[in-house]
Amino acid sequence: MLLTQRIEASIFDLDGVIVDTARYHYLAWKRLAGELGFAFSERENEQLKGVSRLESLNLLLQSGGITDVTDEQRQSLASRKNEWYKEYLATLTPADVLPGVTALLEYLRSRDIRTAIASASQNAPLILEKTGVRPLFDAVVDGNSITRAKPDPEVFLQAARLLGAAPAQCIVFEDAEAGVEGALRAGMGVVGIGDAQRLGRARFTLASFRELAPAELLARIGGPGTMRGEAE
Ligand code: BG6
Ligand code: MG
Repeated sequence: MLLTQRIEASIFDLDGVIVDTARYHYLAWKRLAGELGFAFSERENEQLKGVSRLESLNLLLQSGGITDVTDEQRQSLASRKNEWYKEYLATLTPADVLPGVTALLEYLRSRDIRTAIASASQNAPLILEKTGVRPLFDAVVDGNSITRAKPDPEVFLQAARLLGAAPAQCIVFEDAEAGVEGALRAGMGVVGIGDAQRLGRARFTLASFRELAPAELLARIGGPGTMRGEAE
């Protein structure tokens, strides 16, 4: 039995947690793979979630068996993918915020639980602006301000620092295996969003935020007033 500290701050991944941009990333990578002459499945795409643009490209090329590529060519392929991805982003509106997200953020803030984004994406500012959710976050750490991508814990630790919370007081919401790993390395609790088997290292997993009312979710993660013992 371990007595967890009460949760004072919440840290959210962006792509696939706040908005379904994970799908757009996949479609843009798939298009690039198609142009390079190979197929790219959703299953293979899981490994790209949470990792940086260039690392994603490297994984994609590896899955297509393409090895002879210069750094300059890699940069240009990654930019091409990003241009297609940004065409999808241009269509984003507040209606694209995933179900249950806004209600949860509003509830957490009403209970004085600070909120942050911890994303590997350099497009995060654009996504937050187009979906109108930026005012719901006290801090944003994204691909423009970090040097090491998930599963490195840097992005989560930076978010906790900005929120003035100790890692053990933070709960992270993640849809990527690399993100779950990074949050655990940061010493934080993690709720997986998506497939429970894939995100098995999370404390528990929700298919969607609609699954649990905000008050129930807060009670389950150990919010203010719910200091609890937990079997680890
Ligand atoms: C993460 C996504 O949030 O951001 C990854 O899960 C993506 O799939 C990474 O590669 C970098 O995103 P961007 O927008 O800077 O290319
Ligand atoms: Mg994600």
